[in-house]
Amino acid sequence: MRVLGIETTCDETAASVVKLKVGGGGTILSNEVMSQIAEHAAFGGVVPEIAARAHVDVLDRLVVRALKDAGVTLKDIDGVAAAAGPGLIGGVIVGLTTGKALALASRKPFIAINHLEAHALTARMTDNISFPYLLLLVSGGHTQLIAVRGIGDYVRLGTTIDDAVGEAFDKTAKMLGLPYPGGPHVEKEALKGDPMRFSFPRPMAGRPGADFSLSGLKTAVRLEAERIAPLTATDISDLCASFQAAVVDTIADRIRAALKLFRATCGTPTALVVAGGVAANGAIRRTLTRTANEMGLKLVVPPPALCTDNGAMIAWAGIERLGLGLTDDMTFAARPRWPLDANAAPSPTGKA
Ligand code: KG4
Ligand code: ZN
Repeated sequence: MRVLGIETTCDETAASVVKLKVGGGGTILSNEVMSQIAEHAAFGGVVPEIAARAHVDVLDRLVVRALKDAGVTLKDIDGVAAAAGPGLIGGVIVGLTTGKALALASRKPFIAINHLEAHALTARMTDNISFPYLLLLVSGGHTQLIAVRGIGDYVRLGTTIDDAVGEAFDKTAKMLGLPYPGGPHVEKEALKGDPMRFSFPRPMAGRPGADFSLSGLKTAVRLEAERIAPLTATDISDLCASFQAAVVDTIADRIRAALKLFRATCGTPTALVVAGGVAANGAIRRTLTRTANEMGLKLVVPPPALCTDNGAMIAWAGIERLGLGLTDDMTFAARPRWPLDANAAPSPTGKA
């Protein structure tokens, strides 16, 4: 089975063809991603209108390239999958409409994909792992701990009540005069800095439940930076190192809390799976390895290009759903908000 996947929910335009392997897992036949970072950098964040227009500008070419790289035409594929949310509505509409049009014109099944479900299932494409598993999704838009029990069967164990982890990195970077997106710059500064110089709060640590809260930490960094201003290069490195140390401890604590909830409600997980752009952070990866070891859990972190937004994860989610006969029709509407766990209380920030 081969599926074309289209992703346009945020600031990455992506198209990919993935093939189901005999015995499970997927082979990525092509994976085209075009980042819009340069177009948004001047504004210090993603501008929805610019994003939607940029998707329109490049998506058709990317789809053609994805098919060509995979050595197939629309005739050879078994379905077209497009992310239908959650995300920036203008961009979502671009990808969803393109996906529907391609499916209609080629008379292939159409599959509307929840972007979060695609992140959640990526580890099954790369590592062929079985359900149930514990997923930590950490990106610029999302911070969630989820029990993945099956296709379409998710229990949200924790979410952020304010900022996402990547967002906290980005806002901290902006405050300290570092470029956008800030995560990699904060990490680079942190390598040179002293993580013990400032003792920042570990928000929610030890609290029941597995929710995150990061805005207090960000404020603590701001107050400290204002107190010691003007900042020297060493101050900036030390602030970054101390901030990152607080994030790392918070993530470890919240995973431990989520595992307890998981065991109480969903049994024993087969693995701890990590997805989202923040998973590129070396200090966070090392903590995840240590925490997974401590808990006796296998850790699965897909390669960075599959942790950040991409089309292969959408194609793979399409393969999983198509395999179960779960297709959608042309009336499927874009969903700016689309929680994975419909029973979970709405997140205060809308970060589903
Ligand atoms: O998954 P992603 O590419 O896009 C979405 O947000 O959907 O994640 C991007 C986020 C940004 O907030 C970025 O600053 C953060 O991931 N990030 C990092 C690192 N690399 C990317 N955060 C911390 N350390 C990094 N090395
Ligand atoms: Zn994403």
